[in-house]
Parts: sequence; C-alpha cells; structure tokens
Amino acid sequence: MGKLVICDHPLIQHKLTFIRDKETNTKDFRELVDEVSTLMAFEITRDMPLDTITVHTPVAETEAKVLSGRMLGIIPVLRAGLGMVDGILKLIPAAKVGHIGLFRDPETLQPVEYYINLPTDAPDRLLIVVDPMLATGGSANAAIAALKNRDCTQVKLMCLIAAPEGVAAVQAAHPDVDIYVAALDEKLNDHGYIVPGLGDAGDRMFGTK
Ligand code: URA
Repeated sequence: MGKLVICDHPLIQHKLTFIRDKETNTKDFRELVDEVSTLMAFEITRDMPLDTITVHTPVAETEAKVLSGRMLGIIPVLRAGLGMVDGILKLIPAAKVGHIGLFRDPETLQPVEYYINLPTDAPDRLLIVVDPMLATGGSANAAIAALKNRDCTQVKLMCLIAAPEGVAAVQAAHPDVDIYVAALDEKLNDHGYIVPGLGDAGDRMFGTK
C-alpha cells in the first residue's frame, strides 16, 4: 500500500486556511496555491537520493552530499493542476512538465483522456501527478493509469485536499503510488465536492464560474 503523507507543516496549514476561505480572491488564491505547492515539493522530495562528493572548504577537505541527479517530471491534470506547477518548479527548476487532460463522460461518468503530452524520457523520471482536489479519485486514477500505460512506473500524487474516498480509491487501484496532501478532509457531498474543501479549485484559480 502506498503511503499517505499529510504535509501538516504550520506554514502549509496557515496558507491552506486562506485557500479554503471563500472570501479569498482569485489573485490571492493563485499565489497561496503556488506557495503551498513549493512547501509541499519540499516534503515530496525528502527521499531524493544523494551522492557523496569531496568538497574543499576554505578550512578543510570534507565529504558532503549532493543530489544524485534523479530526474523529475511534473504532470498537472488539466486544468486545476496547472496552478501547482510553478510552485514546484521553484524548488526543482530542472524538472520537465507533461500534461494530462481528462473529461468526465456524461453517460458513464468515467474520466476520458482527451489530451496527453509527456516528456520523451518520462519513463526514466519520477513523475509527480498534481491535482489540487482528490475527490472520488477517478481523475487521479485515470491520470496515473495513463502514465503507467506509457511505461512510466515511478509515480507520486500530490494534492492540496483529499477526501477519504479518493485516498481509498487511489490506494486500491495504485498501491505503489505515494499520496501527498496538505489536508485530509471529512467526506464528499452529494455533488462530489469535498467537505469542507475549498469549492471548485479550477474556478477559484482561474476566476471562472
Ligand atoms: N474538484 C474540485 O474542484 N473541488 C472539489 O471539492 C472536488 C473536486
């Protein structure tokens, strides 16, 4: 079973409160999502492998750590996932970015892939799928499956807020995928919104309705 990491750093929790607040305007919402994404990137990269090199300080020679050069990819699920990309790139500027677009079939209610564009070397990278809301888990599962169908086997999922239903769905379908969230909320309501959640992440991020 993949692990569920709740990134409960005080800075993340503070910013998330204002992301949730319905009075927060589009500009501030976007900036806060960007900032929380940077802070969560810090947590999601915690187990990145390190190499040891020799470095000469002005005082002595010593062994010190450097990143081993593991290559990363950020995969936003369109459209709300786009708002999390720049915040992660601030910490990992060399990461490549792919995109996955999904819509919900009105009859089957299942997510259908309408767009995918991945770095050519995506299978060699650790891919971080980003989508602010993990609600039913349908989109996240479809996005992860789309990556696995293209030989990408190293995948993590990063969301701002998750419902227990979404976490359970991803853990059941993709037990190899670790999930990082800023908050695990109470439930889904009858309209598929996370309670208390933050409303529609895409609309709040882009000022649409
Ligand atoms: N997508 C959203 O934007 N918000 C929710 O609460 C659930 C899914």
